[in-house]
Amino acid sequence: MTFKIFFLLYCVIVLANLISSTPIWDQNVRAYEPKTNVFDLTIKKVGLAPDGFSRILSTINGQYPGPTIEVNKGDRVIINVHNELGEPTAIHSHGIFQRGTPWFDGAIGQTQCGIPDNYIFTYDYTVSDQFGTYWYHSHATTQYVDGIVGALIIHDPDDPYITEYDEEIIVMLTDYHHVESQILLESFFTPASEGEEVFPDNGLINGKNNFNCSQAPPGSTCVDNAGLAKFVFIPKKSYRLRIINTSAFSSFFFSIDKHEMEVIEVEGSYTKRNKIHRLPINVAQRYSVIVTANQPVDNYVMRSEFQKTCMPDEASKLPVITAIVHYDGAPEDSAPKDAPWKDFLEECIDLDHKTLQPLYEEKVPEATKEMELVIAFHNDSLGIVKAFLNESTYVPNIYSPSLLKAFAGQIYDLPPARNAFIFDNFGEVVDISFINTDEGEHPFHIHGHQFWVLGTGNGTIVDKDALNKVNPIKRDTSTIPAKGWMVFRFVADNPGWHLQSGLLMQLIEFPEEIKKMNPPQEWARLCDLT
Ligand SMILES: *[C@@H]1O[C@H](CO)[C@@H](O)[C@H](O)[C@H]1NC(C)=O
Ligand SMILES: *[C@@H]1O[C@H](CO)[C@@H](O)[C@H](O)[C@H]1NC(C)=O
Ligand SMILES: *[C@@H]1O[C@H](CO)[C@@H](O)[C@H](O)[C@H]1NC(C)=O
Ligand SMILES: *[C@@H]1O[C@H](CO)[C@@H](O)[C@H](O)[C@H]1NC(C)=O
Ligand SMILES: *[C@@H]1O[C@H](CO)[C@@H](O)[C@H](O)[C@H]1NC(C)=O
Repeated sequence: MTFKIFFLLYCVIVLANLISSTPIWDQNVRAYEPKTNVFDLTIKKVGLAPDGFSRILSTINGQYPGPTIEVNKGDRVIINVHNELGEPTAIHSHGIFQRGTPWFDGAIGQTQCGIPDNYIFTYDYTVSDQFGTYWYHSHATTQYVDGIVGALIIHDPDDPYITEYDEEIIVMLTDYHHVESQILLESFFTPASEGEEVFPDNGLINGKNNFNCSQAPPGSTCVDNAGLAKFVFIPKKSYRLRIINTSAFSSFFFSIDKHEMEVIEVEGSYTKRNKIHRLPINVAQRYSVIVTANQPVDNYVMRSEFQKTCMPDEASKLPVITAIVHYDGAPEDSAPKDAPWKDFLEECIDLDHKTLQPLYEEKVPEATKEMELVIAFHNDSLGIVKAFLNESTYVPNIYSPSLLKAFAGQIYDLPPARNAFIFDNFGEVVDISFINTDEGEHPFHIHGHQFWVLGTGNGTIVDKDALNKVNPIKRDTSTIPAKGWMVFRFVADNPGWHLQSGLLMQLIEFPEEIKKMNPPQEWARLCDLT
């Protein structure tokens, strides 16, 4: 039996204050003027067939994946969400700190009430001190699994690697289901499922792949050879691939046959160059790698392999997800030869954090507070397998988000099932140790912050003194190994949030300061409408 969290993996919520410390970056002379960028996103259901199998997808502007939101560091981002989905929704900008605007984090039950059907709601935030590769997605129930996802790229005018690549390419990897997630979720949350996760029908790269229609249920509409994503390389040019894993729960190994990759960014942090052949990437993680078109003019396979060890047994049937890297001048329709990299990588864990070195060394502050939390998956009183953090499973109140409670000064009254942890000291440096007793690995994501990964491993933490406090990588999504542990450190100095399946805690920073903040009326009104 596999106990693995379904989607919504991400776990931490940070409701915090505003005491808006001046971003370090603001102290430098700005070489460009920040702009205001407006995006109109219409959320609606549309019949599509990304891999040839027709189904109803929840889309943004009728397309899947949704349009890319691209801005510059320092810019203001205005997202008008037109909800035509037929049910409430909310849009979360994954990895964005939302300093000063916690109400625009987009998580129902934590930072907002849902945007009702047939209603327009505007998110409005500034990415003052952030750059890098992010994504945005619905943060209402499991809607993102049905297609409400898109890339969010923040360009950095001061990018230290800017002269090292000629062009950028976004590569979105996902597992893919032919059945709507609500139906999958219903079958997952029954005693009969015994917590066995639903495994995907296919996987996609930038919303494309082929599917063998003879495996589709009778009566479905399905076309073979729907087509693969194709990336055109100009010989000798270098590309920055921004790889985003938007899976519900599948991890992959990403690679391009015959081409080395150099990791340069992890979730908004530049890294020292790190040459690899195969990149493990877990749900919600992002990496930038530089790839040079230095091979003979030809077609090559880009591949995203499911890490099957951390999936149910039936996953052995799943194909390798492929796309084509087509050199300009190569034959258009000749199938590339298979030449996969053979490097062995252990499955279901992150790229070794020791090999991910921050480009800019940073002195990690000493911890002022330590917390330990035990992750477990087991039956609840109804016999349904749920996730527990120290034996408390998270149950949101979607009609009364915690942030609203904070404004009302009722944050200390939250019931235990909100898994709320309150931080009153500004600048508190918090170490959280997770002990995962489950047989599945779990990606962990924090809202409103990046965290330093001080260590991760099998079993229980043996020696806290051996944790890496010298130049550890700082990121926002990291995998806690099956039957293993992870220790991370963050500074409680901001706002944000996240949800579901019970594996969630809310870090509520500075309730007293929250009360002094002034959320927009439009935001508060959402709770009157639902
Ligand atoms: C498609 O699936 C059928 C049934 O499983 C199998 O017999 C056939 O070989 C598959 N076709 C391809 C091209 O893989
Ligand atoms: C995407 O995330 C899922 C969830 O953990 C993970 O299983 C999968 O390996 C990730 N994909 C890649 C490419 O890492
Ligand atoms: C969670 O449980 C562990 C083990 O029982 C305990 O040591 C720890 O203090 C608990 N954490 C919190 C935040 O209560
Ligand atoms: C959970 O409950 C189901 C059905 O009630 C039972 O078959 C199963 O053994 C239980 N699992 C655990 C881990 O207790
Ligand atoms: C962790 O445990 C797994 C499964 O038992 C094993 O394959 C792996 O080698 C271990 N990793 C380390 C770093 O000890």
